[in-house]
Amino acid sequence: MIIGSKILFFENLPSTNTKAAILLKSNELPEGTVICTNYQLAGRGQKGNKWESENGKNLLISIVLFPSKIIPSDQFYISMVVSLGISDFVKRYIQVCRIKWPNDIYVNNDKIAGLLIENSIMGDQVENSIAGIGLNINQDKFLSDAPNPVSLKIITGINFDLTTCLNQLVSDLDKRYKQLIAGEYEQIKEDYVSQLFRLNELHNYSDKNGIFKGKIKSVTDYGRLQIERGNGLINDYSFKDVEFIL
Ligand code: BTN
Repeated sequence: MIIGSKILFFENLPSTNTKAAILLKSNELPEGTVICTNYQLAGRGQKGNKWESENGKNLLISIVLFPSKIIPSDQFYISMVVSLGISDFVKRYIQVCRIKWPNDIYVNNDKIAGLLIENSIMGDQVENSIAGIGLNINQDKFLSDAPNPVSLKIITGINFDLTTCLNQLVSDLDKRYKQLIAGEYEQIKEDYVSQLFRLNELHNYSDKNGIFKGKIKSVTDYGRLQIERGNGLINDYSFKDVEFIL
């Protein structure tokens, strides 16, 4: 296996992504090293948000990757395979799981996992990639003002063994990462798009011009979201340029 070749556990950390970046500078980590912790004092989310996770209840991990064959313009494929690996894990326990573009993992209208991928680009290569995953497993109540968090336990009523979940997640991520290394780009994109939250459904979104109705059709290779408007025209959006109205 690549992902999970080495697992480093820390009782608590400021952030597993930050720890992975520090270790990368000072150590020779094998590709696929997983840094995990029970508790983060400064867990980081997308758009500068904090990531809430009760001590010892959820999976908080960062994976160190060296995707040397991935050119920077294809870096969204890293995001796609990690999202798919998490979704494969969730589907072990829950029938339907969706990926809310670009990489939130959703069950129904609620967010069960978030992903913070930090790539380091050197010339025409992705030198390394730190894929940080917060996956809610056993937390019963969320206190932050995040709009719609949920956990496996809230959905199923079952209390899960975190070590078993970690091993399963790592194995699911490893399979997906190997698809990327094997160059199965078309299959990865097809799987990713087919699992998109709100694919081909008419919903409200907002952009710099206000709220509009549209249907998600696909993503570009660069990871831009393609939304079809009423007039049949498709607009491509980057992450900061469009909001889902939930
Ligand atoms: C999001 O905002 O949806 C992304 C959340 C990512 C949280 C995870 S928890 C493990 C890793 N370490 C961090 O500080 N953040 C990521």
